[in-house]
Amino acid sequence: MIQAGRSIPISDVPGLITTAERQALTAITRELPTGSGRIVDGGSFLGASTVAILEGLPSESCERPPVIAIDRFTADDQYVLEELWKVPVDIRLGESFLPIFLKNLSGRAEKVEVRAGDLMRVGRVDEPISMAFIDLAKSPQTYSYILWQWVPKIVARSGVVFHQDWWTPMQPWLMAMTAPILHQFDVVADMIDESAVFRMKNVSEPIAAFAASWPRSPEEMTNRFNTVRRMFASRHEPLITLAEAHSLHLIGARTAAEGCFRACSPEGDHPKYKYWYALLDGIIGR
Ligand SMILES: C[S@@+](CC[C@H](N)C(=O)[O-])C[C@H]1O[C@@H](n2cnc3c(N)ncnc32)[C@H](O)[C@@H]1O
Repeated sequence: MIQAGRSIPISDVPGLITTAERQALTAITRELPTGSGRIVDGGSFLGASTVAILEGLPSESCERPPVIAIDRFTADDQYVLEELWKVPVDIRLGESFLPIFLKNLSGRAEKVEVRAGDLMRVGRVDEPISMAFIDLAKSPQTYSYILWQWVPKIVARSGVVFHQDWWTPMQPWLMAMTAPILHQFDVVADMIDESAVFRMKNVSEPIAAFAASWPRSPEEMTNRFNTVRRMFASRHEPLITLAEAHSLHLIGARTAAEGCFRACSPEGDHPKYKYWYALLDGIIGR
């Protein structure tokens, strides 16, 4: 589990991750064995996650940048635009925010390999990965790419997957698509706001084709969510059931989705539970 021993500075870089997630990123980075692999910051936005990772790295200079920061670095999505307006900066649809990201690195740019572009164009990593921070798996397709390209490179016994969005039932493919490989991981931190953190146990097994896919049948979907329930020993059951209901809805299994949603409690164990429940009530509820 995460050690909260040393004091952790909190950067003021604007971003979409919380203080607790930033602190956990720094703490986990500090515990990674030095030189064991590259750290992939998938979905860097203005650099809040990147800077949290940099805070956990040793200060010595290095031959090659330990961190790979991947983002389109262009304002293509509505939520990205809204966050930019809050900063506030006058960046419009399709424009680049890369200069702001670079400025926020505050002189530590030599530690970061910046890959600007779509994940599926710039996201290939051919070396061992000591930590994958995943904050850009906004569709089953992008997540499938991550499962194929990154997870097999995670370093055995010390490599970490830091999963932002894990607990949001609005991105339920994360649970559904990870389920067949969850047995390869231990839980390091089961809930840090919307994140969960896993550590690779042994050498990563090859991922079967079905694993990195989005299940098509309601039975297979439910089996996968039962695997997630077992991994978390039935903790956070209300959120897992909300994610299952949304997944069933997304594959067109309407009756199963409605039945699953009716079994969901309107109260849950997360500060955003009521908000997510209300959103899904609008989508699935009757
Ligand atoms: C939720 S934000 C990341 C927040 C950031 N980690 C932080 O600490 O504030 C998601 C980011 O992923 C990027 N993104 C989403 N889909 C992407 C894709 N397919 N390829 C590259 N970047 C993507 C967006 O541009 C956005 O900056």
